[in-house]
Parts: sequence; C-alpha cells; structure tokens
Amino acid sequence: MSSKEIILEKARSVAALPIQTLEIIDLVQNPDVAMSQLQELIERDPGMTSNVLRMANSSSFRGVYEIGSIREALVRLGTKTVLELAVASAVAPVARQPVAGYDMPAGDLLTHSVVTATTANELAKHLKIDVNPRVFTAALLHDIGKTVLGTFIQVNPRPIIDLAFVEHIPFDEAELKVLGTNHPEVGAVLLESWGLPKTIVNAVAFHHKPDFCPESDRSAAEFVHVADILGRLCGLGVGVDGLNYTASPEAVHHFRITTHVAEEVTAKMIDTVSDMLGVFDVQAGSESHGN
Ligand SMILES: [Fe+2]
Ligand SMILES: [Fe+2]
Repeated sequence: MSSKEIILEKARSVAALPIQTLEIIDLVQNPDVAMSQLQELIERDPGMTSNVLRMANSSSFRGVYEIGSIREALVRLGTKTVLELAVASAVAPVARQPVAGYDMPAGDLLTHSVVTATTANELAKHLKIDVNPRVFTAALLHDIGKTVLGTFIQVNPRPIIDLAFVEHIPFDEAELKVLGTNHPEVGAVLLESWGLPKTIVNAVAFHHKPDFCPESDRSAAEFVHVADILGRLCGLGVGVDGLNYTASPEAVHHFRITTHVAEEVTAKMIDTVSDMLGVFDVQAGSESHGN
C-alpha cells in the first residue's frame, strides 16, 4: 500500500461521531428544519443543552433577559443560530484534542475551528448575505483531516517543513508531495465516511484550493477558504503551518474582500469569538461523549 492509501484507510477507520451528533449535523441539510425537532434533539443531550444555553446567554447573543430553555433560545435567537450553536457543541470534543505533527496543543484546533466559523458568520453579516448552516459546519470541520495526517507528519516532519519554509511551497502542497495526500483530502474522506452532506465534504476537500471545487459547491468552498484566511490573520490557534498557504484571487474577488473588509470582519470576530471559546473552556475536560 502507498502512504496515501495507508493514510486514507486510517481516515476511514476513525470512530464516527455519536449518532445524536450526526442527527444534529444532518439537520443542516434541511433549510426548513422544524423548531420542535431541533428542540427535542438538543434536549435529549444534557451536555449539549447546557452548552447551547451558555452560548445563548453570552454577551454576543443575550438580550436583556436570561434565556432559560432551548425553546426560549429558539424563539429569541432563531432556528439557524441555535442549530449552529448545537453543531459547535457537537464537534467540540473532536476538535479539542492535541494535533501531533502540526504543533497544536489541546484546544488549538478547536480555537481555530471556532474562529473560522465565527469569521464566516461575521463575513456573511458584513456582506449582507445569507450563509447556509452547512457552510458554518464546514468551517468548523475544515481542518479535521489534521487530526489523522498529523500522526503521519510527526514521524518525520522535516521534509514537509523544508518544502514549506525553505522552498516556500504552500503547506497543503508540501503535504501532498511528501505523503501523497493532504489534510483537506484526508478530512473529506473522514467526513464522507461519517456520512456528512456532500457540500460539507466538498467545502472541506477544497478549502485551500476552492477554484478546483465542483461548481455546485464552489461558493461554499470559497467562503470557508476566505474565512480560514481571515481567521488565521488573528493568530489564534494557528499551528506550525501558520500562514503558509496561498489565497485564491477568484475567491477574494468573488466576495470583494478588501483590506477594509478584512479589518472590519476580523475586529468583529475577535469581539464575538471569546464568548463561544469561553463556553468550551469552562467545559474543558468534562466532556465525555466517548469518541
Ligand atoms: Fe487547512
Ligand atoms: Fe484552517
């Protein structure tokens, strides 16, 4: 077996998320998800219920009165926001682990994931466009492939590091040259094996090369690509690969990302992201979803 085959086989064997988490993620497929259905799914899990309520009561979301139930959160914040909070809570345990090979201690990948998803939301607000929760979910999961690929990079990181930092080859291309695959592909294979929606799989597969994404999902891949770049600029949760990637001029042009837009969006994101990260820090070490 080639190293690529060995790595992708490993990606397919990663234990699936708990069924309830998959059910929550599945709801992002449906633009008209029923409030009652979402409420029931969240309330079945006390950990998720408490995470969603903590987030709903953080200063970025909360109004004058405290939100005391999922039903109230749904009425006050809307189905889309509550669904996004539930998805963030659901994937947190997976993204929280340390990532070998990328020099990311426990919590860094979760930070980068939440930063990217929050940036996507702030960018959508700034551009006054409606972004599907699938894009938010893809932004949360975009670097999940690092959790698998990192264990292979760790064995001998030098060739990839040299290509990236001496020869200035983008990190994802250096991974591909040395290992025959890269973290976007590994992430996509992993998420596909979990049965996640195709748009999420494609947006993750092409988050560093959105120009190559099939047209039906290109806009989602471009959005995650741009949110990833803007999110990395703030330096939170960035690993050894750092800023060593290329930006797609088409994606930047498509969403008209100027220096002014980048500054405004990252400033807003830094304001709001600390609330969500605070919720997960409070929960640190106490999550036990078993995966
Ligand atoms: Fe990436
Ligand atoms: Fe990233």
